[in-house]
Amino acid sequence: MTLVFNRYKDRLATLPKEKGWITENLYMYQGFWHQSSRRISVETVMALQDTFEAHPTDIYLATLPKSGTTWLKALMFALVNKNRYKHNRLSTHPLLVSNPHDCLPFIETEIYRNTPTYIDPHSPRLFATHIPYTSLPRSIINSGCRVVYLCRNPKDVLVSMFHFANKLREKSCDVMTFEETFELFSRGVMPTGPYWDHVKEYHKVSVDHPDNVLFLTYEDMKKDTTNNVKRLAEFLGYPFTKKEEAEGAVQGIVELCSFQSLSEVNKHGNLREDIRNHAFFREGKVGDWTNHLTDEMSCVLDEITKEKFYGLDISWDLSC
Ligand code: A3P
Repeated sequence: MTLVFNRYKDRLATLPKEKGWITENLYMYQGFWHQSSRRISVETVMALQDTFEAHPTDIYLATLPKSGTTWLKALMFALVNKNRYKHNRLSTHPLLVSNPHDCLPFIETEIYRNTPTYIDPHSPRLFATHIPYTSLPRSIINSGCRVVYLCRNPKDVLVSMFHFANKLREKSCDVMTFEETFELFSRGVMPTGPYWDHVKEYHKVSVDHPDNVLFLTYEDMKKDTTNNVKRLAEFLGYPFTKKEEAEGAVQGIVELCSFQSLSEVNKHGNLREDIRNHAFFREGKVGDWTNHLTDEMSCVLDEITKEKFYGLDISWDLSC
């Protein structure tokens, strides 16, 4: 890891800086803010751009942090491997004993590892990433592989990120107030933000290349999980047969990946030495922002969203 950080030290020194959420600083690279000297960091993005080789059969999940990545990782892993674990006793399913982040790794962390835990040589490789579309390794864009993008209401992303960041914040940094995170978020300063630019880029490629990029929202997934899971399965190339549907296979996967099930499995233990499994599970609801944002804050974010997403088919119930 240190080798990677050292390789890009000189480039890092030239980048604009802002206050970080989890680490001390965020660095602006290719129009987006990134942490430094962490597994998911600006140095990792640079290293991936220099070395990562995508396969045309790979499948990627792209998200901003706190958009429901853990949930979608579980669903995509369960769907692609549905035949592999079908005949086993349920208790042997990896999602009943491990964190979805161990089942479907980030390319950002794979750069430090040799073999991902559960990759089946007969299945496509499954990866996730928080990297903005602009900064994806060229081989991912050129390979024509499939990408699922999951987006979430910015106000819920802000609230979720606020809680997560304060749980993980480095000891040397003070706890951040909600007002402080709101101010940074609305200026676009958050890991792999600005939020709006990240969403807009992936939305555009999903419109231009619908066979390659599937654009989903957390809110739609919550509202109609069953039908969206079926849609996701089709996009991934693992559609449910009529027989599987009749046997309750869709419902089985929805329940296996539900907030209740995943948060129970991940009640204890650590993903890594510095991050508890349960840090990825908090409320798992739509609209918790109403408990945190003042009317004024909500209006500020609604105005930015309206302006940035003008003319795009992405909307939430905006209160202003
Ligand atoms: P909240 O903090 O609003 O509860 P990510 O996985 O991208 O880090 O996002 C974490 C958010 O997704 C958290 O939101 C978490 O509770 C929620 N989440 C995790 N697992 C979920 C699941 N199975 N279903 C719905 N939401 C889930």
